[in-house]
Amino acid sequence: MKKLVAPSVLAADFANLQRDIEMVNNSDADWFHIDIMDGVFVPNISFGMPVLKAISTHAKKTIDVHLMIVDPDRYIQTFADLGADILTVHYEACTHLHRTIQAIKAAGMKAGVALNPHTPIAVLEDIIKDLDLVCIMSVNPGFGGQSFIENTYKKVQQLKNLIEFSGASTLIEIDGGVTDQNANKLIEVGADVLVAGSFVFKSENPASTIENLKAIIN
Ligand code: DX5
Ligand code: ZN
Repeated sequence: MKKLVAPSVLAADFANLQRDIEMVNNSDADWFHIDIMDGVFVPNISFGMPVLKAISTHAKKTIDVHLMIVDPDRYIQTFADLGADILTVHYEACTHLHRTIQAIKAAGMKAGVALNPHTPIAVLEDIIKDLDLVCIMSVNPGFGGQSFIENTYKKVQQLKNLIEFSGASTLIEIDGGVTDQNANKLIEVGADVLVAGSFVFKSENPASTIENLKAIIN
């Protein structure tokens, strides 16, 4: 399978959001990665439903929503209605993760689980077969532009082993501090999808940065 790039809209220019969305539409990017933060689960607030609605009006690619909010069950149907194709919740924010995953699927979306840097892969052993995607956080969630945590490589390997051992078909996504410096190694250890915020949007030519990143990993 081709390896995927998902630009994180958190790093876009919000005063020129439509321009940046069209840039992604016309680029080699595969997905839109959308970070929803509530100021409780993480110390930052990003944007909410009206902004996602505006994004999904223009976005022509898969919408991958990363919820960094407490008690995400409250909003599963809302995000389905807003056009999310993939809905990822945090392991650390879900008391009844299995139920949450089933509810996401029942609402017609693919289901993902994100793990904070301190959360071991082993907690997914009994649910991996139900997951379409696991997002390994390679920074502490809450902000763009942070440095990549090196321990991520080991976790990707462990997750890849767990997926193969279980016969699951879960995609491995990496989120935080991704650049052309770590992309190759992440793919080598088993990653399928690379989220990139600052590296793409803060570069001089975001479309060619996406093109180069895609070329490096495929
Ligand atoms: C962090 C978010 C990331 C963020 C990545 O909490 O989940 O998606 O936008 O940004 P960069 O690529 O700048 O680290
Ligand atoms: Zn994210």
